[in-house]
Amino acid sequence: MGALCCRQELPDFDGEVNLFHFVLLRSVGKGAFGKVRVVQHKQTRELYALKYINKAKCVKMKAVANIIQERRLLEEIDHPFVVNLRYAFQDDENCFFVLDLMLGGDLRFHLERLGSLSEDTVRFYMAELSSAVAFLHDKKIIHRDLKPDNILLDERGHAHITDFNIAVHYSDRRPLTGVAGSMAYMAPEVLAKKGYSYTIDWWSLGVCGYELIFGRRPFRGKTNSDLTHAISRDHLRFPEEAENRCSREGMHAIKSFLDRDLNRRLGCKPNGEGLEDIKRHSWFRSIDWMKLEAKQLESPFVPDSKKANFDATHELEELLLEDNPLKARKRDPNKDISTLSAEYRQMEEQFTSYDFRKMQRRSYYPLNNPQTVTVTTASASRPTTPAAFEGGGNNANPRIEESWNNNVGTNINMVDRQTGTPPAKLGVFEHNLKGCSSSFQLG
Ligand SMILES: Nc1ncnc2c1ncn2[C@@H]1O[C@H](COP(=O)(O)OP(=O)(O)O)[C@@H](O)[C@H]1O
Ligand SMILES: [Mg+2]
Repeated sequence: MGALCCRQELPDFDGEVNLFHFVLLRSVGKGAFGKVRVVQHKQTRELYALKYINKAKCVKMKAVANIIQERRLLEEIDHPFVVNLRYAFQDDENCFFVLDLMLGGDLRFHLERLGSLSEDTVRFYMAELSSAVAFLHDKKIIHRDLKPDNILLDERGHAHITDFNIAVHYSDRRPLTGVAGSMAYMAPEVLAKKGYSYTIDWWSLGVCGYELIFGRRPFRGKTNSDLTHAISRDHLRFPEEAENRCSREGMHAIKSFLDRDLNRRLGCKPNGEGLEDIKRHSWFRSIDWMKLEAKQLESPFVPDSKKANFDATHELEELLLEDNPLKARKRDPNKDISTLSAEYRQMEEQFTSYDFRKMQRRSYYPLNNPQTVTVTTASASRPTTPAAFEGGGNNANPRIEESWNNNVGTNINMVDRQTGTPPAKLGVFEHNLKGCSSSFQLG
């Protein structure tokens, strides 16, 4: 009898994915909304990163629309230099994303430890990230929060974009106006509030490149208004003895990403021409782009696999301070969704399950239909997604969203019409332990 009651119930792997399908391992990260742990799928034995967001916290932070948006955008994309979604699901307490695991740590972590990275390494990351950013723009997605915290390395040192929490679809006809992102990385046209588009990601990438090579950001200010002024007006300066760290071509490329003139900014030409300009730039001359995009180039920087490439405080904090540690819990089968608050109901209905082994990726953005789905390149570390189908800082570095307007969430508004739920109004204050990524969104 003892044997019977101690035997662990085997999860139903044919049924919908849930937390019982995974073994929970170490805590490796914490962001503005979510916590991140390593998990292992009990059937396939694959390791993944589990990002989970507490529903009550999400409602309190008025961030329900953001996580639904993140969930939908992630379903749409699959690229060798993006942290791809593999599963999504929820229980009564949390919403879960299961993502490709990046064991090499984020670039903020490495920047803090090393002070700066070599030009060779940064050129390599900038090339991989340019390929990812161009892919996102091709899908009409602007990331809006490119910064070292959101660039993760796999164990071989390849760079990947993560955190689509404030990413958004854009249309060529209607510029965005919401001030969103992390201020030190924001393009001048975001701060000017006269409308902006995908060009802002190329600026942010330029800020990242500068910071990674020189160990400091190009535009600084003690207050938000100083920083706004610096980004909007200051002449771009390189540190003293910059030529010891970076070639002339490198500085020219960074300067070109940080051009306030959108007609001249590197990467900004429409219809994929921007990426061609990048490929033709002399700084990237040594890159074999075919091999790079097939993930066949060796990274100049391979993270130490014997060390944990993440901040140990996440683990400690989880062990010592978390009074409600994460565990798999059965859902209440008798729950009546109609009795839930509008926000909880929205999560129940719109944070839908996703399983990359059983489902084809699709776009929730009406203008992307009919939609061709991208297939992961042969060299990507995970199984290929089925092919095409038709279908539907410290305070120097805050992440701000001043307005939740129509521009920010076309598809949220669209679904709102179905449920009768008004679009969420954002009003969030967030603080990241790492200090450099405190961020807030103003309603
Ligand atoms: N797939 C992953 N593999 C390894 N670590 C990750 C992964 N995703 C996130 N992390 C870690 O967790 C941190 C927070 O994740 P992120 O997606 O940026 O959350 P938030 O939206 O809350 O900022 C990242 O900066 C990174 O250190
Ligand atoms: Mg983040």
